[in-house]
Amino acid sequence: MTAPQTADVVVVGGGLIGTAIAWRLRLTGRSVAVVTGERSAAASRVAAGMLAPVTETTYTEGPLLGLNQASMAQYGTFVAELEDCAGQPAGLRRVPTLSVAGNADDAAQLAALAGYLERLGLESVRLTSRECRRYEPLLSPTIRSGLLVAGDWSCDNRLLWAALIEACRRTGVVEVPGFAHQISSGKGQVDGVVLGDGTQLATSQVVLANGAWAAQLSGTPPIPVRPVKGQILRLDPVRLPAPSLTIRAFTSGHEVYLVPRESGREVVVGATVEELGFDPRVTAGGVYELLRDARQVLPVTAEYALSETSVGYRPGTPDNAPILGPCELTGLVLATGHYRNGVLLTPVTATAITQLIEHGSLPEVATGFTLDRFAGLPGAAELTRERA
Ligand code: GLY
Repeated sequence: MTAPQTADVVVVGGGLIGTAIAWRLRLTGRSVAVVTGERSAAASRVAAGMLAPVTETTYTEGPLLGLNQASMAQYGTFVAELEDCAGQPAGLRRVPTLSVAGNADDAAQLAALAGYLERLGLESVRLTSRECRRYEPLLSPTIRSGLLVAGDWSCDNRLLWAALIEACRRTGVVEVPGFAHQISSGKGQVDGVVLGDGTQLATSQVVLANGAWAAQLSGTPPIPVRPVKGQILRLDPVRLPAPSLTIRAFTSGHEVYLVPRESGREVVVGATVEELGFDPRVTAGGVYELLRDARQVLPVTAEYALSETSVGYRPGTPDNAPILGPCELTGLVLATGHYRNGVLLTPVTATAITQLIEHGSLPEVATGFTLDRFAGLPGAAELTRERA
């Protein structure tokens, strides 16, 4: 396809976040082009697709919780509109998540999390070992306790992404294969995007939504995003039973999650968290630990076929929350740094960035996530450049 010479908005990054923003912006009547990047390397493909604002809450991420919950609240409508536009399923599965604990220490950790969730007023139900296995009979009998969270669902990210790509095509978003190399500007205002092959796209509005690669373009202010490697597995139960719920576990001090698909043909097991930059290796140790932990929780997984091993790069930020909104370069809007929550945060990010471009301001829920919160943070920019 020949690249267009101009568009009202150029979205850099064709993953979930980029395609969702492009689709929503196109519905406002603007001409939109997406510079896709390399789709096989995208976190959007590798991710497990948990929608877990409650079970993935941690003690240090209070401000992020509100954004996660706002996105969860939009999910049903977002997917319904997407399926309507794309004419294909988008993978949302309204099935609860069960967090379980393997040994006494794990149970203490889960109880502490349960207490924290209760103090925050988040809905969860504590379960005994027997009750856990009533919900999920495939669980190991050694499981000591559990926490059922009815509102934490999952979404098959590959189906969601395919639907977003189709919605973009149907609404006339222009797909530009290749990588963005530079954001060009004059007098402090964006005037275009230069691709790796030298192609130039003229525009006054760029949305940077290229995940872990956000810090790699020239012409942008420093963006403190770094790649956080995750190794993840896909198992095929073949003819064996698959779990019905998403299972998260503390097991012998490790954390693992198992996300089953509606088809019963895939269980995603994840994930390592490694500060190794862009290291594409699937390691024997990474695969071993995930399979070991999965088997401790759900013994039947040892009999499943190992159908895929992959590596993805979470776009990490200093506070684990995304970077949304304008920056010092007029016309450059940031939508990156979604770290562990890219699938979950897709609807709210698309809504917020569309509102910003359409009406000039972010919705209240997103105002705390602009780049300027890192101003003066010692070393944030340098850290980014070193690791990229
Ligand atoms: N949200 C799951 C992960 O980052 O592994």
